Amino acid sequence: MANIYLPDIAVIKDIIQETSDTKTFVLRFKNPKVQKNFRFKSGQFVEVSVFGVGEVPIGISSSPTEKKNFEITVRAVGSVTNALHQKKVGDEIGIRGPLGNNFPIDEMKDKKILIIGGGIGLPPLRSLILPMLEKRGKFKKFTILYGARTPDDRVYKNLLKKWNEKRDVEFLETVDVADNGWTGNVGVVITLFEKIEIDPQDTVAYTCGPPIMIEFVIQELLSIGLPDDMIISTLERYMKCGVGKCGHCAIGHKYVCIDGPVFSFKDIKTLPEE
Ligand SMILES: Cc1cc2nc3c(=O)[nH]c(=O)nc-3n(C[C@H](O)[C@H](O)[C@H](O)COP(=O)(O)OP(=O)(O)OC[C@H]3O[C@@H](n4cnc5c(N)ncnc54)[C@H](O)[C@@H]3O)c2cc1C
Ligand code: FES
Repeated sequence: MANIYLPDIAVIKDIIQETSDTKTFVLRFKNPKVQKNFRFKSGQFVEVSVFGVGEVPIGISSSPTEKKNFEITVRAVGSVTNALHQKKVGDEIGIRGPLGNNFPIDEMKDKKILIIGGGIGLPPLRSLILPMLEKRGKFKKFTILYGARTPDDRVYKNLLKKWNEKRDVEFLETVDVADNGWTGNVGVVITLFEKIEIDPQDTVAYTCGPPIMIEFVIQELLSIGLPDDMIISTLERYMKCGVGKCGHCAIGHKYVCIDGPVFSFKDIKTLPEE
């Protein structure tokens, strides 16, 4: 049996500086067979090893339909993520995964889609939005709301521009603090709710971002009348093994690494408050 703790080697093919503290790493497994067999679903994550430093869970940010490479987008916050940011194109890192569950997509066919991302919460949602837009005709109205601290802190600036130009996507964004060039909305992401129409009977909402944002977003969606099982969120927890063995990520009876990181509010309600 394969060792579940043993990473495969991936080579950094490209690095995109998204913001002052966030980079996207384009990765490909060194062994072409491993790359060929690497199949993941939107919302899943990988354990990323920087050898000699440590291992961290990171959501996959590219589309599952992209087979040649896969991408992660990482904010440098501590020892492992800063060590990763020191890496150059051609360097090798370790990858275990894909791990965890995924966002429901096919089940939401014919629904109105509302996606709400905050800051570094957009990367896992990008792995959801990209394949959904490939099948745009399967869904009704498609709305994306994105909030960041400042205009410079927005990730995927080129992609945001494309979404903004798409006629079949309603895209709104906001920043907490504007700069001189910013002419858009200022305020937290829920201030965008008053600018859109939400049909609570026919909408599924997906959200990912800082815990405080998720809390406010869920409250707002509930007050609008979205059913508990149509509010889908990710939960973040400190993780070690990533495969349901160590218990580090437990919230009550659930392990975020295998039962999550994607949960509906119907499930979140059953968890102890933390
Ligand atoms: C399922 C999942 C998906 C994730 N996806 C992404 C992603 O796509 N991009 C990204 O940049 N980050 C993501 N993270 C967060 C990332 O794992 C942490 O930032 C990373 O573990 C920090 O490790 P470090 O060694 O660099 O920092 P450390 O030196 O361990 O810590 C630095 C600081 O970050 C805090 N911190 C560390 N880990 C976490 C955590 N899990 N939750 C909250 N605070 C933490 C610490 O309290 C400390 O303040 C994800 C986490 C999970 C659980
Ligand atoms: S991280 Fe070990 S059980 Fe979830």
